[in-house]
Amino acid sequence: MTDLPMTVPAEGLPARVTIYEVGPRDGLQNEAGLIPTEVKAELIRRLLAAGLRMVETTSFVHPTWVPQLADAEDLMRMLGDEGRDLPVLVPNERGLDRALELGCRHVAIFGSATETFARKNLNRSLDEQFAMFEPVVRRARDAGLDVRAYVSMCFGDPWEGVVPIEQVVSVGRRLLDLGASRLSLGDTIGVGTAGHVTALVEAFRGAGTDVGDLALHFHDTYGQALSNVQAGLRSGVTTYDASAGGLGGCPYAKSATGNLATEDLVWFLNGLGIEHGVDLDALVETSTWLAGHLGRPSPSAVVRALSG
Ligand code: HMG
Ligand code: MG
Repeated sequence: MTDLPMTVPAEGLPARVTIYEVGPRDGLQNEAGLIPTEVKAELIRRLLAAGLRMVETTSFVHPTWVPQLADAEDLMRMLGDEGRDLPVLVPNERGLDRALELGCRHVAIFGSATETFARKNLNRSLDEQFAMFEPVVRRARDAGLDVRAYVSMCFGDPWEGVVPIEQVVSVGRRLLDLGASRLSLGDTIGVGTAGHVTALVEAFRGAGTDVGDLALHFHDTYGQALSNVQAGLRSGVTTYDASAGGLGGCPYAKSATGNLATEDLVWFLNGLGIEHGVDLDALVETSTWLAGHLGRPSPSAVVRALSG
């Protein structure tokens, strides 16, 4: 690799960010073909070796809802000790029981900012989702686990269109009030733009949320993800979700395409001189290797540029 891109820091941005890798979960949950559990385990090990610390491994959801992740138990057993500190998705108490049985120490619940997506993704109404999450968060916290909470459809919803900012803040605050320690604001269908990101983060700040507890989770459907990251950085957000190679989507939101590619994010942060601890070459190599298993090239511009 060359020493590109040139590093030119910008005023007023955080010196360091955390990249929260969602490829093995958000990336693979949408794959049509079954991926062998050994390949998933190797992917996770390679991502850790590339310097990523938070790698979301799988979901303890109903196996018929997301067949691609039905091997969650096998995968966690295969990862052994290495897997226990890595976050997993749990929607309900049954999911939490499965995660606890395997010794998982970080769980993530996933709520919806809209009524329609709550029903489609969780089979619950907007209000009912909190009743489902309440015992999950309480029991997880009592057991000493860390709980992240996602909010989906924060910037727009394929069925409901524009989602009012107050509605997103209300759902997010309710999840934090249940006891979640961090909130990841999801642009599930990638329709957010920079000014909207600023307005949403500032609305959370105005409602008393510590911006340090927020993460931003962008899907790159309209090519806005990095511009949105820049807006997030300006507002002081220091955690960004991304998916190696730009894999991703949500099986219950057909218009959700790939997540922001981790490589694209790393290149962008390198240009700004913002520390992240990730080895870009190792990451590109991993995504190229995975693309071989999936039978198609990575959609990430940086992977394509560096692996060509
Ligand atoms: P339900 O059908 O309402 O479940 O599904 P239920 O509570 O009525 O239970 C029905 C049966 O399912 C019972 O079995 C339960 O034991 C079983 P029975 O007694 O009839 O034999 N069951 C389970 N089995 C295994 N694991 C479980 C589980 N729960 C119930 N956890 C449920 C409700 C939430 C389970 C279902 O809707 C579901 O699994 N949804 C998951 C959907 C999903 O994974 N979506 C993708 C992740 S979200 C996302 O990608 C967005 C994100 O990336 C951020 C962004 O981009 O916005 C995070
Ligand atoms: Mg997502």
